[in-house]
Amino acid sequence: MVTLGQVGLGYWGPNLLRNFNGLAQARVKVCCDLDGAALRRAGSQYPGMAITTSYADLLDDPEVEGVIVTAPTPAHYELAKAALLTGRHVFVEKPIALAVAEAEELVALAEARGRVLMVGHLLMYHPAVTRLKQMVDSGELGEVYYLYASRLNLGQVRRSENAMWSLAPHDISVALYLLGEEPETVAAQGLTYLQPGIPDTVFLTLRFSSGRAAHVHVSWLDPHKVRRITVVGSQKMAVFDDVDSTEKLRIYDKGVQRPAYDSYGDSLSLRFGDISIPRIDMREPLRLECQHFIDCIANGQRPLSDGRNGVQVLRVLEAGQRSLELGGEPVVLERG
Ligand SMILES: NC(=O)c1ccc[n+]([C@@H]2O[C@H](COP(=O)([O-])OP(=O)(O)OC[C@H]3O[C@@H](n4cnc5c(N)ncnc54)[C@H](O)[C@@H]3O)[C@@H](O)[C@H]2O)c1
Repeated sequence: MVTLGQVGLGYWGPNLLRNFNGLAQARVKVCCDLDGAALRRAGSQYPGMAITTSYADLLDDPEVEGVIVTAPTPAHYELAKAALLTGRHVFVEKPIALAVAEAEELVALAEARGRVLMVGHLLMYHPAVTRLKQMVDSGELGEVYYLYASRLNLGQVRRSENAMWSLAPHDISVALYLLGEEPETVAAQGLTYLQPGIPDTVFLTLRFSSGRAAHVHVSWLDPHKVRRITVVGSQKMAVFDDVDSTEKLRIYDKGVQRPAYDSYGDSLSLRFGDISIPRIDMREPLRLECQHFIDCIANGQRPLSDGRNGVQVLRVLEAGQRSLELGGEPVVLERG
């Protein structure tokens, strides 16, 4: 049984609280928030759980082995650092921090102390993404040419971060996971309507040294709820649609055949094969994510979305932010 403390019980925190408490091998013993009403709500749901407005009190509890950080992103670094410094394992929501230097410090702290540091890149635990990753790695799609992702909806409009920081970490984490490489350049264009200086819609293009590319379109100002990732390979194409309740993954046996060698009269031939829907054992990604954190603590494993993965995603966000400020100019990624 792993005993946990959690900090931050706003919009997202209660979902993690429910899932960690739903695991047989974990319990959240103490919760902290600055907002008394949020604390009382959680306290009435889990009567045995201690509640406090003091993070120091949470860290003072010697039974707490791991800390779940679900406070807003600007607070991630300080809260996660304090937990690591007192020898706790840390699960921190995405993005890991606001600056790469801060995130790297968290990674170094966790590694020096042999603690688990995991970032909430939720989609990496989605069964459909796991299946897609197997298909990419086994070569079933052929050579992956490019992928593009859309994460659109009306709301939730944030005040402390733009649409890229709020929504794109998910798609960036999946792009890096599927392609298995970090981009060389990032270009981002933003459209700002609701609040000065906070883009509501962002178009992000990642270019990789392999020649592959990933495009991410995020927006909280859109009439459609879209959560879709399309992967185009030389043999097959795959679409992951997280809004579809039953058919999350579709595989299109479509492609374009190139002639073996170019000669006069040779032309590209289009291939239209079957569309298949793989059967996926759908379990709640959030539950799988929470279970993974507990398993990593129990077995001393490195999480799939560990601190280093958090830094990789953050590097893309930082470069994207610089590109936004440069009006969309591609920015070369700094290497770690
Ligand atoms: N994985 C996902 O799909 C997903 C979805 C939504 C949000 N998130 C992430 O979860 C985090 C929280 O987002 P949210 O939408 O719940 O934010 P929120 O503003 O709704 O809630 C944050 C809560 O943290 C509390 N808080 C702030 N600073 C604190 C501090 N220093 N100590 C204790 N409590 C503090 C606030 O009182 C509030 O109750 C963010 O990092 C966000 O990116 C992840």
